[in-house]
Amino acid sequence: MFITMVGVLIIFSTGSGAEASIGVNYGTLANNLPPPHQVAKFLLHSTVINRIRLFDANPQILQAFAHTGVAVTVTVPNDQIPHLTNLSSAQQWISDHIQTHFPSTNIIRILVGNEVISTGNHLLIRTLVPAMQSLHTALVSASLHRRIQISTPHSLGILSNSTPPSSATFRLGYDTHVLKPLLSFLRTTSSPFVVNPYPFFGYSIETLDFALFRSNPGLFDQHSKLLYTNMFDAQLDSVYSAMNKLGFSDVEIVVGEIGWPSEGDIDQISVDVATAAEFNKNVVERVNSGAGTPLMPNRTFETYIFALFNENLKSGQTSERNFGLFRSDLTPIYDIGILRPSGRTLNPENNPRSPVRGSSEKRWCVTKSGAETVALQRNIDYVCGLGLDCGPITEGGLCFSPNTVEAHSAYAMNLYYQTMGKHEFDCDFDNTGEITAMDPSYGNCEYQA
Ligand SMILES: *[C@@H]1O[C@H](CO)[C@@H](O)[C@H](O)[C@H]1NC(C)=O
Ligand SMILES: *[C@@H]1O[C@H](CO)[C@@H](O)[C@H](O)[C@H]1NC(C)=O
Repeated sequence: MFITMVGVLIIFSTGSGAEASIGVNYGTLANNLPPPHQVAKFLLHSTVINRIRLFDANPQILQAFAHTGVAVTVTVPNDQIPHLTNLSSAQQWISDHIQTHFPSTNIIRILVGNEVISTGNHLLIRTLVPAMQSLHTALVSASLHRRIQISTPHSLGILSNSTPPSSATFRLGYDTHVLKPLLSFLRTTSSPFVVNPYPFFGYSIETLDFALFRSNPGLFDQHSKLLYTNMFDAQLDSVYSAMNKLGFSDVEIVVGEIGWPSEGDIDQISVDVATAAEFNKNVVERVNSGAGTPLMPNRTFETYIFALFNENLKSGQTSERNFGLFRSDLTPIYDIGILRPSGRTLNPENNPRSPVRGSSEKRWCVTKSGAETVALQRNIDYVCGLGLDCGPITEGGLCFSPNTVEAHSAYAMNLYYQTMGKHEFDCDFDNTGEITAMDPSYGNCEYQA
C-alpha cells in the first residue's frame, strides 16, 4: 500500500521452542525517526525482532544492520522496474545495492516493486516479471541466487472475487498474463508469493469481530464446507484458492504487510490503541500457533506487521500515519509480545540509568557455554563495530591469547555490559551471554568491572 518504506521481520520464540516468523514494516516516511544504527541496536537488544525488510535499499540502513545477523529484505522501487528488464542494468543494481553490503548485511530477499498490479500502470505490470527474471539472472551470475530470493508483494486487489474463500480467482487478464508467469518463476526459484492482507481495509461494523479474531458466528463456505472464524484465514485461503486454480498450490505464501492503526479520524470506528494491540497480538498468536488455515492446515506464514514506527509525513487519513508499534523515541505504543522481558520497562537508549540492584558487588558478562561460534563472532563484530575499545583482543593486545572466538567474545561482551550500565539486558546478546560474580581476568588480561 505504500511505496517508499522500510520493513522489519521478527522471529518469536514460543514456549515450546518452535519458532515462527513475524515481520514488522519499518517505514521511513517521517522526519523524526531515530538514526538507523540506533534502530538496529534497539531491535537487537530490546526486542525479539531479528529480520528486517526495507521498502527500498537504503544504504545507511543496510550498513546499520551489518554484522547484526538480522535478516534483511530489500525492495526495488516501482519506478525502477522497466529499466531492470535490461540484464546489464540488473547486474549493476545487484552490484550497487546488494554486493556492496552482502554478506556483512544478511540480505535474504529482494522484492521487486510494491503492489504493482494495483497501480494499474501497464508499463510496470508488463515489465514486472521480466525485471524479476533479469535480477535473478544477475544473482546467478554473482552466485548469490541460493542465498537471496526474488519476489514481489500484492494487495488483495489481485482477486476478482474472494467470498467465500474457495470461490476466489485472480482478476481476469492478470491471471494468465502476469500471475501465471510470476508463479512459475517463484516455483522455479523456490521463492514465496507475497501478499498484503489487510482486514483493516475490509471490515464493516458487522464484521468487526470477525476481523479482530474475536468470538463471532464465523463464515461458512458452502463449497468447501469449511467454517472461517476470522478474516485473516479467509483472506489467505482466498489467495490459496486462486493460486490453486492456476495450478500453484505448492508455492509458499508470505504475508508482506498486515496491521491496524492506533489512532484515526473521529468517524473511524475501532481505531485506537487497544484495538490495534488486540489485532496485532492476535495475528502474532495466530501465525505462531502453527494451526494454519482451513485450506492450509498446519502451515506457518512468515508475516510482516505494518509498521515499526508511526510515520508523520504520510498523506491521507490520520490512521495512515499511525500504524506504528513504536514512537520515534523507541518507546512502545503498545506491546504485542515482541519486547525482551528486560526491555519492557527500560529502554537503554532513552531512559536515565537506574542503579542496578546489587551493583556494589562486582559483576562480569561472559559467554554462555554452548553458545554458537557464529553468534559469538556476531557479538564481537557488534561491540567492536560500535567503536568500543577492542584493542586488547586484537593481535598484540593483552587479551589476544587465547585466540578463540569464545574468549574474544567474552571480552567484548563484558566491555559492552560494563559500558552500557550493567543492566541484565546488556548481557543478553540473543541469549548467548551470562552474568557472573567470578572475575574472568587472567594473567595480564584484565576484564573491567
Ligand atoms: C542495456 O543497457 C545497456 C547500458 O545502458 C545498453 O548498452 C544496452 O544496449 C541495453 N540492452 C538492451 C537490450 O536494451
Ligand atoms: C495437522 O496437525 C494435526 C495435529 O498434529 C494432525 O492431526 C493433522 O493430521 C495435520 N494435518 C495435516 C493436513 O497435516
